[in-house]
Amino acid sequence: MSSKTIILTGDRPTGPLHLGHYVGSLRQRVALQNDYQQFVLVADLQGLTDNGSDPQKIRNNIPEVLADYLAAGIDPSLTTLCLQSALPALAELTVLYMNIVTVARVERNPTVKNEIVQKGFTRTLPVGFLVYPISQAADITAFKASLVPVGDDQLPMIEQTNEIVHKMNSLLPEPVLYHCKALLSETSRLPGIDGNVKMSKSLGNTLLLSASEEVIHRAVHAMYTDANHLKVTDPGQIDGNMVFTYLDAFHPNKVKVAEMKTHYQNGGLGDRTCKNELEVCLQELIAPMRERRATYIQDKGMLMSLLKQGSEKAHEVTQNTLREVKQGLGLPVF
Ligand code: TRP
Repeated sequence: MSSKTIILTGDRPTGPLHLGHYVGSLRQRVALQNDYQQFVLVADLQGLTDNGSDPQKIRNNIPEVLADYLAAGIDPSLTTLCLQSALPALAELTVLYMNIVTVARVERNPTVKNEIVQKGFTRTLPVGFLVYPISQAADITAFKASLVPVGDDQLPMIEQTNEIVHKMNSLLPEPVLYHCKALLSETSRLPGIDGNVKMSKSLGNTLLLSASEEVIHRAVHAMYTDANHLKVTDPGQIDGNMVFTYLDAFHPNKVKVAEMKTHYQNGGLGDRTCKNELEVCLQELIAPMRERRATYIQDKGMLMSLLKQGSEKAHEVTQNTLREVKQGLGLPVF
């Protein structure tokens, strides 16, 4: 294997991917795949941590996520696509790591805390859900990844992973696991189309990579701008103005966006004009992805066979790490 820096990221296959995934991580993965050794993990086991009673949903969404990857420009000859449940080393490392992480520590993870509130878990909280950051640490370390392109909600996972790396390495005669760094994108958190702080499927405020022209049109024209910007000639606010937040995230021409902002703040630029500009840019971004995706999703056999091939390669890599950790711990390796 080449000595290139290794990247690992993943997504839970709980539904088709949306623009939040795109700006938070997907766009970066496409750019990075030429220069790094990149693995992308379809995290079906993590998807099951809060869908334990609905495995069919996770199963059905595996090809959906794969189609989104390819549509967004992930090239399977450059990026290894693999499936979490096909890699037993990830589950075994999780079990080993569970012994060096305290209950207090898993309960302190702010992202998990938020999700618990958002999903309304009380004593109904699945054990697997509480410990999914440990399994995510297993994902990252099994590949010896040192870069993880993610949105900012995943920073606590990286922090927890590095704690596990430190603790586990200290138990081994020589370090086996690599520390990792999050690679945040310029827009590491995209607000939802309703103005909520995060675009998320469970909040119902997404725009999918497969959104139709009509859905894009309606979403853009329903976006909040500045409630006090009543007449075109009024000076307008940029802060908290969703249209400008999205123009910043998606418009290819930064100079043009900067000019629009000044014009808007000085007065004389209407919301309608800004929304039209945003709509054109989103339509141009999504249309080719939607079309490619429609073709890929018709051939689920091809998608699953790509995943199988990638998983075979990933199996080797992850089994190696597991063996090194077991040997280091003094467990018999047969
Ligand atoms: N937690 C990520 C999500 O919710 C998915 C994920 C699983 C992941 N394993 C990973 C991300 C490893 C980065 C690295 O989408």
